[in-house]
Amino acid sequence: MKQTIVITGASRGIGKSIAKKLLLRGEKIVMLSRNIDAMEKIAAEHPNQAVPYQVDLSDLESLEKVMAQLCSDIPKIDCVIHNAGSGLFGNIEELDFQEWQKQLDLNLNAAVFITQKLLPQMKLRKSGQLIFINSIAAGKVFSGGSAYGVSKAGLKMFADTLREELRPFHIGVSSVFPAATATSWWDSSSFPKEEMMKPESIANAVGFILDQSFPAVVEEMTLRRVQGDF
Ligand SMILES: NC(=O)c1ccc[n+]([C@@H]2O[C@H](COP(=O)([O-])OP(=O)(O)OC[C@H]3O[C@@H](n4cnc5c(N)ncnc54)[C@H](OP(=O)(O)O)[C@@H]3O)[C@@H](O)[C@H]2O)c1
Repeated sequence: MKQTIVITGASRGIGKSIAKKLLLRGEKIVMLSRNIDAMEKIAAEHPNQAVPYQVDLSDLESLEKVMAQLCSDIPKIDCVIHNAGSGLFGNIEELDFQEWQKQLDLNLNAAVFITQKLLPQMKLRKSGQLIFINSIAAGKVFSGGSAYGVSKAGLKMFADTLREELRPFHIGVSSVFPAATATSWWDSSSFPKEEMMKPESIANAVGFILDQSFPAVVEEMTLRRVQGDF
């Protein structure tokens, strides 16, 4: 049966690749990001299959309004893919504290808020799935990566806790931990994008996770290059 799947950060990069893959499978997609034009372009390629909502996920007041609208428009959501994120890097004393807060709001708190809004209907139905696009940075320390690492380690602990809470409700919780993946994320870095994993590899992993049938669930999946990290 085709599902209705919310994807955050679907306008580009890994999220766009996941959205395109799921649209080809015939799923209904609900996309959240700031760039409405990019999402409408994706939606236009699959009429009646994709609905975009424009929102800055690091602005929790705006997110509250958009989630109220989304829940009223689409009462049944089968799966949420928490993918949107950004990377704030720098030695701790150089980081602007407001930027630190924004990093946590986007990478962690938005996922918590969206989960709180969408979970009740899943619990009532005793079915659903939550997929977190995390990072190897949840468990591997990078110098200068305190803000990003804290947000991703927090996201892992949030997913781990939800998994235990939601077992009686038959709601699966999956965390995906990719290493460097060739997206615009790396455009201003000196790391060679052509040597990185492709976003399609992460989308394929999400497809595999969705292919498992109850009671099986992929709880965690790590994807990195055969050659190892940069
Ligand atoms: N690329 C990697 O090497 C890598 C490795 C491990 C994990 N990851 C994780 O994978 C996820 C996706 O990364 P990516 O490489 O695909 O990044 P990306 O190409 O920069 O795309 C980020 C996505 O998140 C959305 N986003 C960013 N800030 C937002 C905001 N304030 N409000 C709403 N949406 C926002 C963007 O949409 P708009 O700009 O339209 O808002 C875009 O769709 C992230 O969680 C990242 O931590 C990436």
